[in-house]
Amino acid sequence: MTLLVFGGAGQLGRALARAGGDAVRGCGRAEADITRPAEVVAAFDRHRPTLVVNAAAHTAVDQAESEPERAFAINADGPAVLAEACRVHGLPLIHLSTDYVFDGSARRPYREDDPTAPLGVYGRSKLAGERAVRAGLDAHLILRTAWVVSPGGRNFVLTMLRLARERAEIGVVTDQRGSPTSAAALAEAILRLAARLEAGAGGFGTFHFTGGGATTWHDLAAHIFRRAAERGLTVPVLKPLSSAQFPTPARRPAWSVLDCSRIRAVHGIEQTPWPVLVDACLEQIWSA
Ligand SMILES: NC(=O)c1ccc[n+]([C@@H]2O[C@H](COP(=O)([O-])OP(=O)(O)OC[C@H]3O[C@@H](n4cnc5c(N)ncnc54)[C@H](OP(=O)(O)O)[C@@H]3O)[C@@H](O)[C@H]2O)c1
Repeated sequence: MTLLVFGGAGQLGRALARAGGDAVRGCGRAEADITRPAEVVAAFDRHRPTLVVNAAAHTAVDQAESEPERAFAINADGPAVLAEACRVHGLPLIHLSTDYVFDGSARRPYREDDPTAPLGVYGRSKLAGERAVRAGLDAHLILRTAWVVSPGGRNFVLTMLRLARERAEIGVVTDQRGSPTSAAALAEAILRLAARLEAGAGGFGTFHFTGGGATTWHDLAAHIFRRAAERGLTVPVLKPLSSAQFPTPARRPAWSVLDCSRIRAVHGIEQTPWPVLVDACLEQIWSA
């Protein structure tokens, strides 16, 4: 099995390289821009993959509001390019998507076939990417995830640890609920999916996968600061805020909990409770 991972320098791309060893070929933007078909095909020729993973994306949710063309080019046109190249080469594609395709008005975990209604440019562009992959390639697996944390890159855990060093007080929103997911757990799930697809076990289509359970950004921050305090680090006072008190360019879903029972039923992939994943991420950060 040889997995070619586009977006190889991102959070998930790096976690896949760590978890997959020689089976994973990471391909960063400098080597192949997914919006450029010739670069994608050259990467196929160089690495000769047996399966392709698209971990490349425009993930700056607020920035996307002011640059929709760029967000759509990367999140919708790029996946279309990859789907077409995979079709021509007879390769399956695992494509990553997001809880932000939903509007957050549900009060039970979202299932794969629930109606989508993204609130912002990022979610709309990712939804367009899903549609392009479904339309362009039968052998696709779309994996929606949420609230990804890892020891590197841009994520909530690292932001909270940085703010803890800089500020005496931090306000975090209490009215957005979701499921923190580590890039490491996501990488393990993708490697397992890849092995099953390659073994001919079937199970293409759309799936949800996150850490188990759910929390708010505020309570996730409280968890991080509790662990930091246990290590003797100085932690700030944590204040509850509403989304109205913390306006951002992009609106975010108030409820983005994903129902992950389908991936368990079809592929036997179990969720790990989010605090276990966040603690493992913190350990990795503090042991580096
Ligand atoms: N992070 C989350 O909380 C979250 C939540 C739900 C779903 N997801 C999805 O999970 C997947 C992985 O996310 P992540 O957290 O690993 O994202 P990330 O850390 O932002 O990594 C994305 C990578 O894609 C690269 N990239 C951007 N445009 C590209 C292009 N045109 N061609 C090739 N590479 C390009 C970026 O390179 P540059 O740094 O050079 O731009 C970056 O290395 C994405 O599909 C994302 O939408 C993420």
